Amino acid sequence: MKWRAHPADVLPLWVAEMDVSLAPTVAEAIHRAVDNGDTGYPYGTGYAEAVSEFASQRWQWHDLEVSRTAIVPDVMLGVVEMLRLVTDRGDAVVVNSPVYPPFYAFVSHDGRRVIEAPLGNDGRIDLDALEEVFARARKSGGNVAYLLCNPHNPTGSVHTVDELRGVAERARRFGVRVVSDEIHAPLILSGARFTPYLSVPGAENALAVMSASKAWNLCGLKAAVAIAGPESAADLRRMPEEVSHGPSHLGIIAHTEAFRTGGDWLDALLEGLDANRTLLGDLVAEHLPGVKYQRPQGTYLAWLDCRQLGFDDGAVAEGPAVVSDLSGPARWFLDHSRVALTSGHAFGTGGAGHVRVNFATSQAILVEAVSRMGRARLDRR
Ligand SMILES: Cc1ncc(COP(=O)(O)O)c(C=O)c1O
Repeated sequence: MKWRAHPADVLPLWVAEMDVSLAPTVAEAIHRAVDNGDTGYPYGTGYAEAVSEFASQRWQWHDLEVSRTAIVPDVMLGVVEMLRLVTDRGDAVVVNSPVYPPFYAFVSHDGRRVIEAPLGNDGRIDLDALEEVFARARKSGGNVAYLLCNPHNPTGSVHTVDELRGVAERARRFGVRVVSDEIHAPLILSGARFTPYLSVPGAENALAVMSASKAWNLCGLKAAVAIAGPESAADLRRMPEEVSHGPSHLGIIAHTEAFRTGGDWLDALLEGLDANRTLLGDLVAEHLPGVKYQRPQGTYLAWLDCRQLGFDDGAVAEGPAVVSDLSGPARWFLDHSRVALTSGHAFGTGGAGHVRVNFATSQAILVEAVSRMGRARLDRR
């Protein structure tokens, strides 16, 4: 999608796909399946076992019980199905804006009301704001769920144990069910440490979803794993059977192999992303004075605050929009520098005036893209 959606003169730094070759062991597993004509229905718990083993080794999380997992078609459909287990139509789902745009669209298309608990100015969860929103949502009646993005897209914040304990304590106190989207969990850059939400005391009645799709660049090979805590296992068992028919067998083969044998490839990737994270900071300082770069702790996404450049996308500031709509700085940089970025306004309240940059590309492309953006910024003055 990244390289197809725009004309050839546009450098695409938008949708979350990486410019990498596949991990060799993953490519071999897919080739093997094709060579053997192994293209039937998926079967078994191999994917969940691989995630459990990976979680134990990488995050010292030893309680991912395969018996409390389910295969789902992809992360967002898994999120929707898990929200259906703990909420009804008309119920409230709390999100931390600015946040990944489908958190609005998918949830509201399923008849749930999205309520925002904005992040603090530091791009981190504001526990006081969250508490206030939990209290308000409870008062409005019905069930309340909280869709956590751990780590957070677009700010790249990796929530700490203390922050997550604070979330769990409040969720318990207000009777809010937490669904944690942990798709970016393997993408933690040096200096930060990932905490699986279900590993936090108080989170036993939560649900989470993990996938190899972002970290190993497999989002076209559909599959993900839904995980229940000990107190939500019965809820997960209520997930309708047809959901397990959605994921692709080749997707499951690829994702399983990634978690099982893709650790070295991932470590090399993370080194490259770390270097790109630093390079992007340097390039923004050099070419885009006035633009604020908040160094992400994880993911390969950077959130640039372009408000000082004085773009007027105030008209769309209040509501989330679809991702393909461009506004403010993203529109300007596409039109004037032929660089495609994700428009901040689509991420909900707090997103206007920002752009999200995907830095999982070559350093040559990053240099060219930000230099072009710098020239466009000068044209504007
Ligand atoms: C936070 C988050 N959740 C879900 C997804 C989409 O995952 P999937 O393609 O498995 O639905 C993305 C993709 O970028 C994401 O950033």
